[in-house]
Amino acid sequence: MARSITPRELYDGIAEGSVPFVLDVRNQDEFATWQVEGTRPVPMRNVPIWVAVEESETLAQEIPDGTVVVCAHGNGSDLLIDVLADEGREVVTLEGGTAAWAELLVPREIRGLPDGMVGYQVARPAKACLSYVIGVPGQGCIVVDPARFPRAYLDLAERHGMRIVHVIDTHVHADHISGGPALAEQVGASYHVPMEDAGASTPFANAPFGDGEVIDLGDAKLEVLAIKMPGHTPGSTCISIPGHLILTGDTVFVRGLGRPDLTGKAAELAAELFHTIHDRLAPLDPATVVMPAHWTFPEEIDDDGMVQTTLARVFESSLVTEEDMAAFIEEIVGTLPAAPDFYDTIRLVNSGRAATAEEIETLEIGKNQCAASTSM
Ligand SMILES: [Fe+2]
Repeated sequence: MARSITPRELYDGIAEGSVPFVLDVRNQDEFATWQVEGTRPVPMRNVPIWVAVEESETLAQEIPDGTVVVCAHGNGSDLLIDVLADEGREVVTLEGGTAAWAELLVPREIRGLPDGMVGYQVARPAKACLSYVIGVPGQGCIVVDPARFPRAYLDLAERHGMRIVHVIDTHVHADHISGGPALAEQVGASYHVPMEDAGASTPFANAPFGDGEVIDLGDAKLEVLAIKMPGHTPGSTCISIPGHLILTGDTVFVRGLGRPDLTGKAAELAAELFHTIHDRLAPLDPATVVMPAHWTFPEEIDDDGMVQTTLARVFESSLVTEEDMAAFIEEIVGTLPAAPDFYDTIRLVNSGRAATAEEIETLEIGKNQCAASTSM
């Protein structure tokens, strides 16, 4: 039996049901903040490393063979597998620990795009974040809401001979550090983040889209539009392939709407979200596929591993169809959980404030908390 598995092998093993158990040996605080989470639930237990070593004899009786041992960087877990092997238990360690898990990106091809287009939804399981690569083989592509790890996007573009021409953040994210400006600079693409969110001047080049602006993909004549959908943030912009697909950022999720409070103007933005829903989303083709920038619960992931719904299903929610704006605002603002206090710092970094690599790693810990009213 191999001593270790990679983050991708762990992710696939969870999806296939071949991972029987996860033993997380980080300390209790770290475990409480976030855990490894795949596309379906997996039995899991937290036993800090020093307890696990001290009580290895008992522990070995309590976990199954094939258990995946997880620690912060893969060192403690690597030690523990030998201790458990001495007790007769065959376990494996997660290579690179949760730090490596945090960087895992998993692309899945998007079906049903217009002829001549190709696209991918790229999941980041550690943060429940979704980014996108959509383009025309042999021509140009866009990358939307990229994480800080460019390899996956570069590989997808290269696979189809596409040049990355636009890198887009649908809004200034509060939950994770954007990889957008760096990726755009690396490949010579133009970068777009709403000015209403990032401010008029940023230390990186920014070419915010206007409402309804057509995004060109090189010579391709296929239509991709940027549509302003304020609510989650003042500048939130969705990317639409009319009649086919809309990338909703944090405006609409498979379950729930984006929380409107992260910029400190909850009621005002909830009112904007109300108008976005009724004036901008409702008139679109109900068969349009909706792909957001996050999921909250594994139940939002379908059997193909995709996080998607349709506008018709979004409009089955009583919150979304609430006609009374005051009632809508009361429901959405009244049920908001407190946002993590470091979200303000992340927004500043995504608007151009310098941050060290260490600070970025700390700021990125934990699953996103961008949704409000996840009951829909
Ligand atoms: Fe967001």
